[in-house]
Amino acid sequence: MNDTVTITDNRTGKSYDFDILDGTRGPSVVNISSFYTDTGMFTYDNGYTSTASCNSSITFIDGAKGELRYRGIEIEELAEKKSYLEVCFLLLNDTLPTKEQTKEFDLELRHRSFLQEGLTNLFHAFPSGSHPMATLSAATAALSTFHFNHLDMSNESEYQTMARRIIAKMPTLAAFAYRYSIGACFIQPDISKSYTENFLYMMRAYPGGKMHMDMDGQRAIKEIEIKALDTIFTLHADHEQNASTTSVRNVASTGAHPYVAISAGVSALWGRAHGGANESVIKQLEMIGSVENVDAFIARAKDPDDEFRLMGFGHRVYKNFDPRAKVLKSLQVQLQDELNLDSNLMKIANRIEEIALNDEYFVSRKLYPNIDFYSGVILTALKIPTSMFTPIFVIGRTVGWITQWIEFKKGKGMKIARPRQLYLGK
Ligand code: ACO
Repeated sequence: MNDTVTITDNRTGKSYDFDILDGTRGPSVVNISSFYTDTGMFTYDNGYTSTASCNSSITFIDGAKGELRYRGIEIEELAEKKSYLEVCFLLLNDTLPTKEQTKEFDLELRHRSFLQEGLTNLFHAFPSGSHPMATLSAATAALSTFHFNHLDMSNESEYQTMARRIIAKMPTLAAFAYRYSIGACFIQPDISKSYTENFLYMMRAYPGGKMHMDMDGQRAIKEIEIKALDTIFTLHADHEQNASTTSVRNVASTGAHPYVAISAGVSALWGRAHGGANESVIKQLEMIGSVENVDAFIARAKDPDDEFRLMGFGHRVYKNFDPRAKVLKSLQVQLQDELNLDSNLMKIANRIEEIALNDEYFVSRKLYPNIDFYSGVILTALKIPTSMFTPIFVIGRTVGWITQWIEFKKGKGMKIARPRQLYLGK
């Protein structure tokens, strides 16, 4: 006999049994798919705080322990020992690549990084100064018009190509969205550069692809900068059923094109309660202005009558230190030393972190700095414009979205996402 949960309707005295399903890690779930048929009622879970919407074998989070694994491997190990492209391969294939596979994957991504001319022309239709996230969402959806085919999900190579293409093109789309937003000409990808260096190059190069040396005659793109950004991509690569991934799966459930589904993910990520928080963190630090003002803003964050929230603090799932934030904290220290950084923003950020980690309000609510707190500070140190923080999150997360899309499409008995409601109108 299956383990069950029994629910009693105290209005009628009737009891109903629902099966408990066990995963390989994490909390079990109660299968309530027959709840409406059995009881005539819906379940209600505002914000899905207790709802598992699918089963998945990609990413596991234990929020209480502060643990995150991709395909069973701890994030700390991947961030330290593997490149972002190896992590992409792992997520897509459920196994780390051999040296030969890494080389082949890298080469294919370099070849696929270019955009068709028609897609490049699309950017010119947007008003100058458009936020890169808006342009990126539209350009991602537009990509579906250039690669419109009905995928044969029994053909592994077809959807692997679909995945590799969008992972390869996302840095180009993001860099073009940025350059258009500042009125600069587009810089085409340089096939001789690695994935992460190429993105920095497309953002920073002058017309004709020239890069200038810095004041000390050093390389314009430093190894430590490439390493830092590569780590940020890895830490963002997937995060199970968050708001943007759920949006991707919901669109996938209707049978729409995968790039349109990913465009929905880009849009969902933009909000400041989600990926947009990294941009808001820096805007908030700039608003705070100096270390002396930190106490007043902490007081506002604690005031229940004030809507002000400390950006980059708190997480729906992590009620312990976000493991990605831990990796970034040590990267921040490394960057501070190697790039000799001692900026005012970093001082303010360090002071906020120090207070919040010891303050009863934050401690009792388990509000720790999240990934966006440190990524915002690190990206500022790398002189990345603030408007590009969330597009950088998009680049890292694209592999997660497409992997989740593939898992959804390959799954058996998948249904269209169609929640119900508690009607309170006339
Ligand atoms: N500053 C001050 N107080 C906060 C903060 C914050 N950043 N976050 C939560 N709280 C308080 C709430 O006021 C609430 O207090 P109460 O119990 O006295 O009413 C309590 O902590 C619980 O907060 P909820 O909003 O219920 O928590 P939820 O899990 O729904 O929200 C969220 C999580 C949206 C991330 C929230 O913490 C937040 O808004 N943080 C700031 C934005 C941010 O950094 N987002 C990035 C998240 S990471 C990511 O998406 C990549």
